[in-house]
Amino acid sequence: MDHPTQFAFQNGQMPQIELKGDASRLRQVVTNIVGNIHRYTPADSPVEISMGVLPASISPESLSRMPSNEQSLRHLVEAIEVGQSMQVGMNYAIVRFSDHGPGVPPEARSKIFERFYTADPSRARQKGGTGLGMAIAQSVVKAHHGFICASGSEGTGLTLTVVLPIAPVEPKPQPITASENRKNEKKNRKSKK
Ligand SMILES: Nc1ncnc2c1ncn2[C@@H]1O[C@H](COP(=O)(O)OP(=O)(O)OP(=O)(O)O)[C@@H](O)[C@H]1O
Ligand SMILES: [Mg+2]
Repeated sequence: MDHPTQFAFQNGQMPQIELKGDASRLRQVVTNIVGNIHRYTPADSPVEISMGVLPASISPESLSRMPSNEQSLRHLVEAIEVGQSMQVGMNYAIVRFSDHGPGVPPEARSKIFERFYTADPSRARQKGGTGLGMAIAQSVVKAHHGFICASGSEGTGLTLTVVLPIAPVEPKPQPITASENRKNEKKNRKSKK
């Protein structure tokens, strides 16, 4: 991404994430993405999968209206920067699948979510693809007020990012400052009189 901040993979335990949604349809999203990795990348090429929760200063309604492209992803990264520094907005579950196969050219990455689109028709025909898997994944993610897009992996390959809202960020209790403390004491004294 042409932006200083980006998602980075870190080794560690996958966090337990709970969100309300249609479990079988959400499983379908993962199956379609992993199925594509099986179908379009060599068996010995590596894949990274990550999961995390991040706050972002964007509503699920606005997020789910954004087109599935890399510009929207940059917009989301900015909203996460604000969400993290101010502890505001919505907590989102973010799941990423990065493969290192042939990938999809940048100009075609947003098109893979169109129905019946196949980036390389001869390859897709040979591999038996009908061009519906990503369109279905997108409609499920949108129905959950989320966002999905494809970008380039580090090195070569395709990365799919799925973002799903969990719950609004709980505001942290602010520490009371000394001057506020004095004000409160004054108020208390007055009300006792
Ligand atoms: N991981 C990937 N690496 C390379 N190309 C991919 C990858 N995932 C998807 N594509 C490209 O995007 C196109 C659309 O994917 P999609 O899953 O929607 O359809 P499909 O796999 O062709 O068929 P279906 O999923 O309906 O069986 C594919 O035809 C392929 O060209
Ligand atoms: Mg597919």
